[in-house]
Amino acid sequence: MESHLVGLLLGTEDDWPTAFESLVRSLGPVTDTHGTEHRIATERVTIEPFSLRDRPRHSLVIDRLAYWYYVPREWLKKVSLMDGVYLLNNPFTFQSMEKHSAYCAMIRLGLKIPETVLVPYKNPVDNARWAYTAAKYNRPFDLRKIAADLGYPLYMKPFDGGGWRGVSRVDDPDMLMRAYDDSGEMLMHLQQSKPYDVFARSLSIGPETMVMRFRPELPMHERYAVDHSFLSPQSGEECVTINRLVNAFFGWEFNSCEMLVAFGDGERPDEVMPIDYANACPDVAVTSLHYYFPWAIKSLVKWTAYCLVTGRRSRIDLTVQGFFDIADRDDLGYDEKLEAYRRLADERFEAERYFDWCDSRLRHFDAVALEWFSGADFDRLLLDTVRSTYPAHEHERFVAHFRGLLALWRADEARRLG
Ligand SMILES: Nc1ncnc2c1ncn2[C@@H]1O[C@H](COP(=O)(O)OP(=O)(O)OP(=O)(O)O)[C@@H](O)[C@H]1O
Ligand SMILES: [Mg+2]
Repeated sequence: MESHLVGLLLGTEDDWPTAFESLVRSLGPVTDTHGTEHRIATERVTIEPFSLRDRPRHSLVIDRLAYWYYVPREWLKKVSLMDGVYLLNNPFTFQSMEKHSAYCAMIRLGLKIPETVLVPYKNPVDNARWAYTAAKYNRPFDLRKIAADLGYPLYMKPFDGGGWRGVSRVDDPDMLMRAYDDSGEMLMHLQQSKPYDVFARSLSIGPETMVMRFRPELPMHERYAVDHSFLSPQSGEECVTINRLVNAFFGWEFNSCEMLVAFGDGERPDEVMPIDYANACPDVAVTSLHYYFPWAIKSLVKWTAYCLVTGRRSRIDLTVQGFFDIADRDDLGYDEKLEAYRRLADERFEAERYFDWCDSRLRHFDAVALEWFSGADFDRLLLDTVRSTYPAHEHERFVAHFRGLLALWRADEARRLG
């Protein structure tokens, strides 16, 4: 018998961790292909001083905190480098969670990234050397001309993005100057806006990917639409490939990706344009994902179990050359490159082996999970989450709203399982 402890590094969220902990308990022991039994337990990680030589008790940690809290961030780096603890997202590419590196990498690989320009800070940098350096080396530039070349409307947004902070849509030169004045100490991109028909947001957990129709203009609880046919099969696959590619490139296994999709006609194919794909602490709240929440939690449990039981190791070195070799081939068109990227990404995620393994080792898990998501514990979790998320006068409406969407998932899932 082997035991594995999963650490959950959490901030304010309680909904998905509770669901995850319950489902891991319901899963029970998993027998590997050699007949050895593996027991998986979970524990919420607490924050305290640590010696750099301490040995952690955890085999795998799911992190939701390191993107803003540096004590656990440094702990993650330590346990990853020294103790072989499995982390879903490579802590050393956290800096690439600034959008900028991700844009650069994906442009290098030939993806359809809207034209993007980085402009120097509006306000002086707080450093005694700035005035001298800027006077000597900062070239004056014409912001209006850069914007005119990109074309209006355009987006101005921080190079490191996240949570819509500092994002503005700019329609004319006046708005441009105002947005730049407001940017202050933030470093900004100007980005061409592309006409599109639908906004796709995908969430990947290991080799599992869900592409969802997203409506960023609506309130949070309505942003994810339940729609199984909003993309053509080709552009749906393209979205999956792009999300896996980004993840394989940076060493991420729990990340979401946003793409604008413009529909083609008889002659032109659909176009998928990624605009944001470095969200290594993706939103998995039940009040956002609703219908898709069970899929997300089940995928987290399955991928976690797979990694622990098969002894998969996390990869912290960036091995990007394989992707660049594909990018540099003149004999391949865009679609063929995507296929080659996909093969390479799927190899890194052991996709085929993982799905076979789930079929043979976790045979009863779908039914167990459906039962849990149909039971009183999950309903209580939903109620508690609604109560802590919305003001009292909205509780009734939102409880009904989310119960309805989850009932729809249960009906679909029961049909799928036959
Ligand atoms: N180039 C673009 N073309 C069209 N719309 C865009 C573009 N860039 C950003 N947007 C819109 O602005 C929103 C926020 O931009 P973006 O996703 O890049 O920033 P963010 O700070 O990561 O936001 P979030 O955390 O909400 O995803 C997008 O969801 C989209 O609606
Ligand atoms: Mg975004």
